[in-house]
Amino acid sequence: MRPPVGSLLVRDIGLLVTNCPELGSGSLGVMRDVDLVVENGTVAWIGGARTSPAADEVLDAAGRCVVPGFVDSHTHLVFAGDRVEEFTARMAGKRYDAGGISATVAATRSAPSSVLMEMAARLKREAEAQGTTTLETKSGYGLTVSDESRCLEVAGTIAEEVTYLGAHVVAPEFRGREQEYVALVTGPMLEACAPKAQWCDVFCENGAFGPDAAREILQAGRAHGLGLRVHANQLSHGPGVQLAVEMGAASADHCTHLDGADVDALAGSDTVATLLPGAEFSTRSPYPDARRLLDSGAAVALATDCNPGTSYTTSMPFVIALSVREMHMTPDEALLAATAGGARALRRDDLGALAPGFRGDLVVLDAPSAAHLAYRPGVDLVAAVVRAGRLLGRGVTR
Ligand code: NIG
Ligand code: FE
Repeated sequence: MRPPVGSLLVRDIGLLVTNCPELGSGSLGVMRDVDLVVENGTVAWIGGARTSPAADEVLDAAGRCVVPGFVDSHTHLVFAGDRVEEFTARMAGKRYDAGGISATVAATRSAPSSVLMEMAARLKREAEAQGTTTLETKSGYGLTVSDESRCLEVAGTIAEEVTYLGAHVVAPEFRGREQEYVALVTGPMLEACAPKAQWCDVFCENGAFGPDAAREILQAGRAHGLGLRVHANQLSHGPGVQLAVEMGAASADHCTHLDGADVDALAGSDTVATLLPGAEFSTRSPYPDARRLLDSGAAVALATDCNPGTSYTTSMPFVIALSVREMHMTPDEALLAATAGGARALRRDDLGALAPGFRGDLVVLDAPSAAHLAYRPGVDLVAAVVRAGRLLGRGVTR
């Protein structure tokens, strides 16, 4: 990231979502008619409109709503090709079974790094234009030492949180020799990849990795200094969530098939339940029971899961709208999960809120309140995006 420069005044904010209940009203800590100053990348001041200290640059919100930048804590942006035929067949009735991952692995292996870089950068720009100010992204479509390693290099150029997912599925050439592939993932592949990542993930699922292999992979990742995340309980009920909690993972992702013991385990832990309803949308599957998780007190995050197989969207506003309509989250709960929830899933205490000391990441919405993100689905309401006090792309011109 480029170094932040000087200060930015965001003027005439009609409604500011701080995510800090002590700063304003309700669970989102909403303030009305305020100005906000970001200095050297960090929120330095919030106060009544037209009372702010001087700043180097001014962004006029003209009475609009401002929310914290979206934290997309789960994406797979490094790949080549697409799987539109698979999607089309699915919409005609074929079931998703993760078998298509091998098509993306083949395309990714044969693509030069420059192509992977261009595609990933395009998806990053797409995400930013829709209000995402922090991205996590993963490897997982290389599945050889050199391909996983170069995918992580590409990931590191577009995302500030990078995850090693050599354990996405058993590489095709290791079919029937899972233990040998696990030895590669926890041995030479991890040696090459750990310096390029902050996180280690594993797809714990029938047809991918069982609980023993998944535990071994997470233990090896931790021994190499990586934080832990798990693709858990996505396609069927299984041991992934319990394993994530047992291992103290930052996040259990998908959580589509949970029983009461899984919900209790999440509620009693620091492991965030990251819900990815774009995947249920694009695989035409039942959505996770977000209400049960929220009502139990579990921490919930929302993310896009952007990938060519199950969820080819970079849009956090779309995910928010889906969560409200299909998972019965309130608009406030959805916004919180897409911002503070994502920050928590990445164990980042500098992101996900707009209060002094937090990074100056914000979205100016062309709307009077954040509920419009769900109320006006499919409409581009992003008027301006600021990361660390820098305006990204377009300003407020509409
Ligand atoms: O998060 N669950 C595993 N991985 C991806 C899907 C990968 C694919 O189909 O390409 C997911 O949904
Ligand atoms: Fe995923």
